[in-house]
This record gives sequence, structure tokens and C-alpha cells, in this order.
Amino acid sequence: MKVVITGAAGQIAYSLIPFLCEKGIFNSNEKLDLNLVEIPQAMGRLDGFVKELEDSAYSTVSSISTFDNIENAVVDADWCLLVGSIPRGIVLNGKEIKERSDLLQINGGIFTEQGKAIGAHAKEHCKILVVGNPANTNALIGYKSAGKATQLWMAMTMLDALRAKAQLSQKLGCHVDDIYRLAIFGNHSPTMFPDLENTIVAGKKAYQEIDDHDWVENDFLPKIQQRGAEIIKARGASSASSAARAACDTVKAVEHPTRSGDVFNAAVMSDGAYGMPKGIFSGFPLISDGKGSVEIVRDYSLSDFAKKGLEKTANELVEERDLVKDLI
Ligand SMILES: NC(=O)c1ccc[n+]([C@@H]2O[C@H](COP(=O)([O-])OP(=O)(O)OC[C@H]3O[C@@H](n4cnc5c(N)ncnc54)[C@H](O)[C@@H]3O)[C@@H](O)[C@H]2O)c1
Repeated sequence: MKVVITGAAGQIAYSLIPFLCEKGIFNSNEKLDLNLVEIPQAMGRLDGFVKELEDSAYSTVSSISTFDNIENAVVDADWCLLVGSIPRGIVLNGKEIKERSDLLQINGGIFTEQGKAIGAHAKEHCKILVVGNPANTNALIGYKSAGKATQLWMAMTMLDALRAKAQLSQKLGCHVDDIYRLAIFGNHSPTMFPDLENTIVAGKKAYQEIDDHDWVENDFLPKIQQRGAEIIKARGASSASSAARAACDTVKAVEHPTRSGDVFNAAVMSDGAYGMPKGIFSGFPLISDGKGSVEIVRDYSLSDFAKKGLEKTANELVEERDLVKDLI
């Protein structure tokens, strides 16, 4: 089982790789070949982390290799976790990258190259999870550049789903494991729409149990949509441990059959489901058969309030796609 992780010397990878090395994440007893990818300037830091991984003596791991180029790293890859990207605010060639359009263009270049390499060299049924932001549009660029329909490209919305579950469990005093069918629609950005109208908690409809639309609209939604910013403000750095947990949970959700009556969350290529425009990567409720097939669950009913939320996040995704149209 060959697993490629980019941004391997970054803060998310520092938590993610140990999570992935625990038993039971992959639906296979094959040992892991970890291919860790970084930019040349970060290879020293990555070597330090590799020493720590070696010292962890994971029984699940067969080999750990490092790469400063994507082409060689992805040969015969089963999974690619694309975590590395250029954050907003970084100074490149003397210019601070502030605008979303600049960020999209710079990261677009990275994901064009990575997509091409994955399409050409990774396994036919390779699964790819894009974590690096702007994740949905990076995934779109990677998918188009790979040009291989048999490979499964996803962008991460699991963290948004976990955040929503945590808030709901606090509101209703239930355990997060009792929450079913909670869906994140749209972009991994403040426009995302976390839907509670189809959520089931311990066999009951969550919306009726909450019985307070004002809380949903004015407390819950902004809390989930702004949670990333809240963490940056408090920690002085973006969420890392929870993002790593969510990436690992996404891998586990794809590798194993979804529990009966539930869904998991990731953004995949839209085929027009729920009125989301075709040809963008949008968050949807998904199920996996644990054998490589992932499908959109299509039986959610959406109120006018939800439809308005979906429209807003769809518009943002279309705008982002237009900003990178020369790359796709
Ligand atoms: N989708 C989500 O839910 C979610 C949640 C949190 C963070 N993120 C995003 O995840 C990304 C990583 O976050 P982090 O906190 O680990 O950042 P970080 O800055 O600590 O690490 C990123 C690493 O990526 C590396 N990198 C940059 N370009 C690369 C390339 N072309 N190939 C390989 N490596 C490359 C950098 O050298 C750095 O070590 C950010 O874009 C962040 O916004 C997404």
C-alpha cells in the first residue's frame, strides 16, 4: 500500500502521518510504503520528522522515503494526500500573497503539476484527498490535469462535518457517534452549508429535537463557517491536529463500508446533484462500499433556507473555477 503525503514537514502532516500509521485505517493488511514529499527548502526539517517516525517503529509500516519532486513520489501510489500548498499571507518574490485570485493561481500551478504526475504514474484506482486550500478548486485543477476517470479525487470537508457534529452533540447532550446523516454541502470555506434538516440523532430527527431555527441560523451556522478563523485567532496558527484527524477519518471512511443509515463527507466532482453546477468540486453526503466505490447520497430533502445556502456556496465555487479557467 503506497501512500504519498505532500507538505510532509508541515504542521498537519506532523499529526496526520502518525494517525495513518495506526492499525485499522486501511482496509488491507499490506504494510505501508510512505512516500513523503516536500519542497527542497524543507527537506532538512522533513528528515528530522522521518527520524521520529523511524523511532516510532510502527508495525504497519514497511518503508519511509522522502522526495523533493512529485513525479518520482507518486509512481504506483494507492493513495495521495495532498496537504502541501502555499498559504495566504506568504511573501513570494517580494510580493505578499493576499488575494484569493493570486492564491488560486499559485496553488493552481502546484496542483497542475501534481495532477499530471498522478494521472501519469499513480495506480489506475488511486484515491486522492486534497487538504491544501483552496481545497475544492485545487482538487478540480488536479482532477482535470490528471485526466484519469478511474482515479477518485476528493477535497476535504470532513473537518467541517466533525466540527458540526461536536456542536450538535453539545446542543443536544448526545454522543457524536449517535449522529447520522449530517452533511456539508459546497465549498470548504465560510460559505459552506452544514445541513441539519436531514440529520438523525439516536433515531430521531435532529431538527425537531433542536426545535430552534434561530439557533441553527444564527449560532450554529456562523460557528461552523467561522471555526477555522476562530482557531487561527486563538492559536496563532491554523487548525492542525483536528485537520489531521479529519484527513485520517476521510481515508478510513473511503477504505471501509459506511455504517448503515449514515454518510460521510468529502467534496467530489458535481454531476448536478442537489442543483449544484456540474464541473465543480462540491461537498456532498457520500457512502462508500469499502471496495473503492464512493457515491453521492441523493435522498436529502432541502428547504428553501437550505437551497439558498447551497446557491451561495455554489456561486463561490463557480467564481473560483472562473479564476483558474486557464488551468483547467
Ligand atoms: N480542508 C481543510 O479542512 C483544511 C483544514 C486545515 C488546513 N487546511 C490547509 O492545509 C494546508 C496545510 O496546512 P498546514 O497547517 O500543514 O501548513 P504548513 O504551512 O504547516 O505546511 C505546509 C507544508 O507544505 C509544504 N509545501 C508547499 N508547497 C509544496 C509542494 N508544492 N509540494 C510539497 N510540499 C509543499 C510546505 O513546505 C510546508 O511544509 C494549508 O493549505 C491549510 O490551509 C485545510
